[in-house]
Amino acid sequence: MNKEQIKIKDLPTPKGAFLVGHLPQFNAHNKHQVLERWVEECGDLFKINFVGKEFVVSANPIINAEILKLRPEKFRRFSKIDEILREMGVVGVFNAEGDIWKLHRKITAEALNAKKVRENYDVILDKTNRLLGKFKGYSQSNKPIDIQKELMAFTIDVTTAIAFGYELDTINNKADSFQQHLECIFPMINERVTAPIPLWKVIKRKKDKELERSIAAIEKIIYQFIEEARVRLVENPELKSNPTNFLEALLSDGNDVDFTNEEIYGNIFTMLLAGEDTTSNSISWAIYFLSQNPEIVKKVRAEAHAVYGNSEVPQTNKELLKLKYTNAVVQEVIRLKPTTPQLYMEALETLTIEGFAIPKNTKVILQTKVAQTNEAYFSNPNDFSPERWLKSECPMHQNHSPEMIKAFGGGPRFCPGMKLAINEMVILLSVLCKHFDFKMTVKPEDVKEQFSFTMYPENLFIQLLKAN
Ligand code: HEM
Repeated sequence: MNKEQIKIKDLPTPKGAFLVGHLPQFNAHNKHQVLERWVEECGDLFKINFVGKEFVVSANPIINAEILKLRPEKFRRFSKIDEILREMGVVGVFNAEGDIWKLHRKITAEALNAKKVRENYDVILDKTNRLLGKFKGYSQSNKPIDIQKELMAFTIDVTTAIAFGYELDTINNKADSFQQHLECIFPMINERVTAPIPLWKVIKRKKDKELERSIAAIEKIIYQFIEEARVRLVENPELKSNPTNFLEALLSDGNDVDFTNEEIYGNIFTMLLAGEDTTSNSISWAIYFLSQNPEIVKKVRAEAHAVYGNSEVPQTNKELLKLKYTNAVVQEVIRLKPTTPQLYMEALETLTIEGFAIPKNTKVILQTKVAQTNEAYFSNPNDFSPERWLKSECPMHQNHSPEMIKAFGGGPRFCPGMKLAINEMVILLSVLCKHFDFKMTVKPEDVKEQFSFTMYPENLFIQLLKAN
């Protein structure tokens, strides 16, 4: 017997306003929480509209996994994302589609594969040592620090060193303005993606002008990276067949296609954007949990002493692999506070998934976080319990479905930077817990989830105390 098809016209919808629909509630800075509330109200499949423009929201993990899998042929990212990134001059792997995407993806995935990440272990170590030195200074002064900003400097330095072979030293405030310019980008992408009218094309507000200035400044720096790499390749032609980083690979002759200057710039920009906020926000959320769970800090510290007791930092990739409890902390942070709780997709053809009829061009917002905190998939889903990720302790948690985690996306466009991000998180968290206790100097309830294309903890101030 044929199951009856679910049609968009029959989907429930939360209460909206006359004419503008759900736009006023879909506030730019907490839209992910608004979506979560609507899932509670309407179930895991519903529709919303912004001034008449219709969007489907799916929190159904089976439909979401299938949509992610059906790319690039049957689904793409919102075309609006591509439009907005192109306006900013960015043409790279994140907004490319179809066959062009395959070319961009191949070179990006190669630059970030497990072997390359292993080979770059020393880079992460070097940045970890620099941050450790800086944090030791903070621990002597007792001054609360804006941890998210500090960690962003760390991830910018790791990404620029690994992907472009460039030493920015943002950690030691040598590239403050670069960090400030980067910070300006995501909030504006976020605002523009669901804006019903592209006001910025008509009048330039103060923030639009600031964005233009930031893009111009970033462009200047990235083109400088590119020029320096070109010179390196001329001086050392062997790099063309054996590139040492992503930028050199983009410039080398061995690719299936010659990338244009615009594509090289776009991919560098993409890598910077994709690699820094996501990872630094996730480490910040880890500190948020650790500062409230000193017994977990002690366990991470004990593991650090057991694995690399005589050193300040884990010296080798082998030692890193032994940090199993720290890795469990990382998995748990990503489950509870995914920095990318929703993904925006658009159907390229008419199709039916799980009985849901999706006409061509339908825009579907995939709400992926709700499944990660659903009792059916994870027992005591709101508890911060790294143990659930350890084989030996897993039976304690009857429900445990790691396949529900979509914080890094899924299918062929799955995040290629996951391995690098996890390594950065495990190394840094292990080292920080080995050396410090964390005291949150604000009330936990005053730390707010904010969404600006990625989700971060606003107002997270931490005092670092030297560990005994
Ligand atoms: C905790 C850290 C991170 C999280 C949560 C994260 C999450 C994501 C998500 C959700 C996507 C979209 C996947 C999809 O559409 O299925 C993505 C794509 C991407 N990420 Fe990450 N990411 C992280 C770190 C990184 C790092 C460190 C890099 C590189 C330095 C990176 C590079 C990329 C790139 C290039 C894409 C586009 C892939 C494509 O469209 O084919 N990410 N990431």
